[in-house]
Amino acid sequence: KRCLLIGAPVDSGKRRQGCMMGPDAYRTAKLAETVAALGHEVSDLGNISPATIRQVSNSNKQVYALPETVAWAEAIAAAGQEAAMHGFPIFLGGDHSLSLGSVAGMAAHASSQSRPLFILWLDAHTDLHTPLTSGSGNLHGTPLGYISGAAGFDAFPPMPKPVPAHQICMIGLRSVDAAEKAMLQDSEMTAVDMRTIDEQGIARPLAEFLGRVAAASGLLHVSLDVDFLDPSIAPAVGTTVPGGATFREAHLVMEMLGDSGLVSSLDLVELNPFLDDRGRTASLMVDLTASLLGRRVFDRPTQSFNAR
Ligand code: ARG
Ligand code: MN
Ligand code: MN
Ligand code: MN
Repeated sequence: KRCLLIGAPVDSGKRRQGCMMGPDAYRTAKLAETVAALGHEVSDLGNISPATIRQVSNSNKQVYALPETVAWAEAIAAAGQEAAMHGFPIFLGGDHSLSLGSVAGMAAHASSQSRPLFILWLDAHTDLHTPLTSGSGNLHGTPLGYISGAAGFDAFPPMPKPVPAHQICMIGLRSVDAAEKAMLQDSEMTAVDMRTIDEQGIARPLAEFLGRVAAASGLLHVSLDVDFLDPSIAPAVGTTVPGGATFREAHLVMEMLGDSGLVSSLDLVELNPFLDDRGRTASLMVDLTASLLGRRVFDRPTQSFNAR
């Protein structure tokens, strides 16, 4: 693979600052060197800057840092779409508002390739809010709302082709607001909560989703929020929720994703190095990326998800 690292230190998606240090924490934790050691070509494109910040129509005064976040989304989408033509983009966040841009860029890319785009959201949260439904006013809780074409995002560039609900899968859920539950109610999104993982294991729902991606010859964008992981192994995030994915579950997910050969882009988001414990969360995120990109104890025979 030709891996393109795109630093996007967006920190405007919520009030607590620190995610601006994320890209440099990944560099310090040797992300590029680790990926290169697996035999990939790696280019660190450096950090991007937000587009020009304009006053935008704000239907909801409660939304925090709307103009800044719109400007970031525009720049991230443009950089992502460009990078996707040349390789495998890895977006180094930055908080989860990064995905307002990364997924828009990947959707434009997929559309130019006439391929459907699938989204795997690894997160404690559904991030399905809109500027109209958000109680916190924090835009990092809204990217899946935007991506799926919900109303209320007039300040953002329109999603030319929203991602259809049946192409979206969330895994790791354990903090879902009432408005988000209501939106999921009559939606075809796949929403895998921790209870499902406890009852069925994490591999089964993931394999089911990968089977659908393969059957549709889709591109797959993976968005990995640090709070997908249990806070005991990943403390460096502002929105910790107990009962998250274990070390072993998280690596298994990344290994299955790598073996599938289906993943075409990746977000690493919500890392707040200010909250970390001697870099352990940054290092874990680097190791998970390594599992996605082929680091194995023993190789397995190639699995086909078409057959399922
Ligand atoms: N649902 C909550 C909110 O809207 C939490 C969102 C957390 N999102 C995240 N990307 N960590 O504020
Ligand atoms: Mn070019
Ligand atoms: Mn999130
Ligand atoms: Mn989250």
